[in-house]
Amino acid sequence: MKRIISLISAGILLSNISLLAQTQKLRCEYLENPLGIDQTAPRFTWEFSTKQNPISVKICVDTDSLALVKGRNNTWISNNIASSQQLVSYAGKPLQSFQKYYWKLIDKNNQTLSAIASFEMGLLNSSDWKGAWISDSQGKEEKNAPYFRKAFEAKKEIVSARAYIAVGGLYELSINGQRIGNHRLDPMYTRFDKRTLCVTYDVTKHLQHGKNAIGVLLGNGWYNHQSTAVWFFDKAPWRNRPTFCLDVRITYKDGSIETIRSGKDWKTSESPVTFNSIYTAEHYDARLEKTGWNLPNYDDKTWKDVIYRAAPSTRIVSQALHPIRHTNEILSKNLKTFSKQNYVFDLGENISGVSSITVKGNAGTVIRLKHGERLLPDGHVDQSNIDVHYRPTDDKDPFQTDIFILSGKGEETFTPKFNYKGFQYIEINSSEPIELTQNGVKGYFMHSDVPAIGKITSSNPTLNKIWAATNRSYLSNLFGYPTDCPQREKNGWTGDAHIACETGLYNFDGITIYEKWLADHRDEQQPNGVLPSIIPTGGWGYEWGNGPDWTSTIAIIPWNIYLFYGDSKLLKDSYEPIKRYVDHITDISPNGLCTWGLGDWVPVKSKTPVELTSTAYYFVDVTILAKAAKLLGNQEDYVKYSALAEKIKKAFNQKYLNEQTGIYGAGVQTELSVPLYWGLVPEGLKPKVAKNLADRVAQDNYHLDVGLLGTKAILNALSENGYASIAYKVASQESYPSWGWWIVNGATSLYENWPIDAKSDISMNHIMFGEIGAWLYKGLAGIFPDEQGAGFKNIMLKPNFVEGLATFSADFESPRGLIHSEWEQKGNTVIYKIVVPQNASAKVQLPEGYKVKSINQKAISTPQVGLLSAGEYTLLIEK
Ligand code: BGC
Repeated sequence: MKRIISLISAGILLSNISLLAQTQKLRCEYLENPLGIDQTAPRFTWEFSTKQNPISVKICVDTDSLALVKGRNNTWISNNIASSQQLVSYAGKPLQSFQKYYWKLIDKNNQTLSAIASFEMGLLNSSDWKGAWISDSQGKEEKNAPYFRKAFEAKKEIVSARAYIAVGGLYELSINGQRIGNHRLDPMYTRFDKRTLCVTYDVTKHLQHGKNAIGVLLGNGWYNHQSTAVWFFDKAPWRNRPTFCLDVRITYKDGSIETIRSGKDWKTSESPVTFNSIYTAEHYDARLEKTGWNLPNYDDKTWKDVIYRAAPSTRIVSQALHPIRHTNEILSKNLKTFSKQNYVFDLGENISGVSSITVKGNAGTVIRLKHGERLLPDGHVDQSNIDVHYRPTDDKDPFQTDIFILSGKGEETFTPKFNYKGFQYIEINSSEPIELTQNGVKGYFMHSDVPAIGKITSSNPTLNKIWAATNRSYLSNLFGYPTDCPQREKNGWTGDAHIACETGLYNFDGITIYEKWLADHRDEQQPNGVLPSIIPTGGWGYEWGNGPDWTSTIAIIPWNIYLFYGDSKLLKDSYEPIKRYVDHITDISPNGLCTWGLGDWVPVKSKTPVELTSTAYYFVDVTILAKAAKLLGNQEDYVKYSALAEKIKKAFNQKYLNEQTGIYGAGVQTELSVPLYWGLVPEGLKPKVAKNLADRVAQDNYHLDVGLLGTKAILNALSENGYASIAYKVASQESYPSWGWWIVNGATSLYENWPIDAKSDISMNHIMFGEIGAWLYKGLAGIFPDEQGAGFKNIMLKPNFVEGLATFSADFESPRGLIHSEWEQKGNTVIYKIVVPQNASAKVQLPEGYKVKSINQKAISTPQVGLLSAGEYTLLIEK
């Protein structure tokens, strides 16, 4: 990289980049210039700029950036890639461990079309590792987080250095006293006994010619779960004292390589982190701080020897993901001082993450920081909505309560390293009087730091807030796997995740996290196809809650990834697992009806038979499987599973549909909307069923009467069948039960239950009811992917100019670039603005009764009949 930068500054590249504007956003494995890749055929993606029509391109890859600049022949030059394609997998000679590769795009005349990007391979073979798995000699019940250190001398001038660290547990890595990187809670949660993640850092600038020291602090994470709760994380089969394996690979100026590795020459000692639980909290005794512990000249004579440990699993896989980070610092909005020993801070917003306290006090002062989402009437923090599944065995590990013991050495700051919580309020209790002002405690929002790619604005402020709250809850529940809530559980509940998947994909570039999570699925699947309801799991969840209404994640998520990114890799990787899951359901549902499931979870009032919703999801899975079979060229499976889908549909309609009336079951909202949304209604009867749904909603006073599965379907079933204005009326309600009801009552995140004062199931940061975040893009802006041109090569634009909303605008950064859909209505006139990205086309379908009066267009490529090509359009529309 250094080399390229110097070339650019020397102006050598500039003569070559006349066409640079043409391609951009070069990504490898969906990441910008990633390190530590271990895919042997990494995927490359790019976007065309709006400056020129897309053309057929070739990819050149080389280990030498200069060779790439000069166009000499290279490690790999791909064949011509059709202009319509913006994704290709590497297919050259085998990529080598540790090697950095540069790549760019050229046209058929070898003219450069892009800037140069890079990717670097990590450790491809287990034999590439030099280090040993080490730990201290404590058992898994030991509470103190161990420090490890090694000092060494780099005898020559360093050109580059990489650290590769694989961990059972969590780590913080430092070199010469400086923390490496800004990741938090690394590595991400996996089934540690099946797959252990390795993180790669460029540590060149941290090392020096001469004396160096490497420090590692290990935390427990999900690997050594000491807190006890109803899901038995503490009984996970992999559970053990944290351990790590580290290689720091240094390349010297003379070309030689030295690897500083974890091994018996490391030393270990106790740290000031006296307790850490990802689930509950962290305890820190600043009196135990060892100043300079990770510096070269620190005296570690009293430190103990390390021991070798078995690797947690035999598979070490690169963590090629957007890391968890502190993404936002939040200052307290309010402080209530009960006494000098008792304060309550209010961040003004509900987040997942940690708090940080800065304070002065006497040595030995014990400060407790209790975190919660709400207050008791007397102004103290109330945890009764979130500690319900916690089963502590003593009082030493209070829920969501950090314990900080002061060293007494002036101003001190504490921020937990190996824990996160869900909270808005922090109550401080101190054993001695302390002075705290409003800036004394801050919050840090934490989550997988996936890039934001969507934006909604409208003339309805409540709707805008619902969108923001949905995104907040989505992110609060993204920690390398999707969770249900950041406080009570932190569980990878499958049902919550497939419901929220589109919300995630319209708003965030989340493919890397979903691909990782589906690998977790594959690690958890039983030979007979059964999957657990929480993934990853230490064993809980194979016996409860894992029917198709929840664990259809195995099919729905790969399918959505295909639709949104036009990338079939995840679908391919998931194909056999989907098939096994589907075949298992078929085994237990010979007549085509499936009773396995939880049903429409946390409904407002009406109940829908579990068999209705579970059979619908069984149908969804089989349909996806049939489509995947077709896409992947498996004709036999396509025929087989298409027939099975038909059989299920028939059985479903025979059991639940009254063909005379067009009513399913008792005709409540979920019963009508689920078959409509998921395509189970016989074609001719759709208008009748949709009319029944609209009437039902009117009878319910245009308010929701659904649970989890119904929320996925209800708004879409209405807006896709001619009742968008009714959908909007429901979506924008501000009285109970509705999303707006939460918002007008002060919510900044989505809740788990419709009544704000519900007695149970009342987490205040659940993504479960979050489909509305996707519906805004679909039901109002009308932006849909098209399976005939996945990845938004073909865009469906089906906006709805709904009653009661003056303006609406959606921006969505698709893999082909920005899609914009914005409308403003006055009386019978609508001004509709569209941006179609380069190399895509859009099919516009206006709601019934609307006609285009005029089009003002700046097309940037040749339009095809009936389609809008790339460009900007303003349509004047009349009713
Ligand atoms: C979780 C839900 C989850 C459900 C399954 C709850 O405890 O928080 O979001 O889907 O269990 O029943």
